[in-house]
Amino acid sequence: FRVISTKPMPGTKWIETLVSVGCRVEICQAAKTILTEDDIEELIGNRCDGVIGQLTENWGERLFSALARAGGKAYSNMAVGYNNVDVEAATRHGISVGNTPGVLTETTAELAAALTMATARRVVEADDFMRAGKYEGWLPSLFVGNLLKGQTVGIIGAGRIGSAYARMMVEGFKMNLIYYDLYQSTRLERYITAYGHFLESQGEKPVTWKRAATPDEVLKEADVISLHPVLDKTTYHLINAQRLATMKKAAILINASRGPVVDEVALVEHLKANPQFRAGLDVFEDEPYMKPGLKDLPNAVVVPHIASASKWTREGMAMLAASNVAFRLKGCPVWSNPNAVDPFLDEVAPPP
Ligand code: GLV
Ligand code: GLV
Repeated sequence: FRVISTKPMPGTKWIETLVSVGCRVEICQAAKTILTEDDIEELIGNRCDGVIGQLTENWGERLFSALARAGGKAYSNMAVGYNNVDVEAATRHGISVGNTPGVLTETTAELAAALTMATARRVVEADDFMRAGKYEGWLPSLFVGNLLKGQTVGIIGAGRIGSAYARMMVEGFKMNLIYYDLYQSTRLERYITAYGHFLESQGEKPVTWKRAATPDEVLKEADVISLHPVLDKTTYHLINAQRLATMKKAAILINASRGPVVDEVALVEHLKANPQFRAGLDVFEDEPYMKPGLKDLPNAVVVPHIASASKWTREGMAMLAASNVAFRLKGCPVWSNPNAVDPFLDEVAPPP
């Protein structure tokens, strides 16, 4: 089998995984950061069995038909999010699609927590100030920020990452939780309840949780809001000008999900008009660009989509992406792969 990875990936275990099932692995070494569809079509060529691709690539009808023409059967994103993949197009061409959940849950939640602390305590602004030689001595009013303890943390999207972040903030800072998700997260609720009992047993005030009926309820009540939904039609611009206006004046908004969940132009306006409001952003609407004005705002902390960037996690993501492709090329039924995004592919297009 000929398998392509559109980017070099960390570690070597992922390569061994593919080699062990009889694959020859080709790693694209192109110097440019982002490959175009032309570049990828050229890589696929006229014989390619599987591809590991990246979230920066647009995997739609064009690339899946090129892959199918080359005899391809498997595609895996090296990411948990797969809004860059047209799964239906892949299915039409009999190509399986996998993602890489689990290994990045805690790493991503930790970065969201880092952004929360950095924005709440103005760490980046203060660092800039220090390096600029502006520190002339301790002052009662210097870089006064927000205390997290006892405040309410809100999450929109209580899946793996959202729940991990909620636990970190509740346990780490004794914050109360309000969450919105289509599905009730009894596991998260039980965890917070048990932690509340523990605090009570220590003679401390217990933490509380509440499941909100709407995202608006979270935005109105929380002091810190972190966004953890998948990006789809229902979450595009979930945070817009109207909703920003309902948030507390000194609220903190964290986004380590996908950029288009937030109307970034509206956010820039809101940050300008409300200097006490802060945002911590790992993702942007038009990566790698930021909307005009964002980079000049001291009340925003911005990092370049690094939420899953720990060594252990990135090696794990590469392993899972390779396993997704190996699974399929070995002839295992797609439904038996827990990281298949299209577990019913076999019913639609049985392998020859
Ligand atoms: C990263 O953004 C991912 O979806 O894994
Ligand atoms: C601050 O540094 C304090 O000692 O209160």
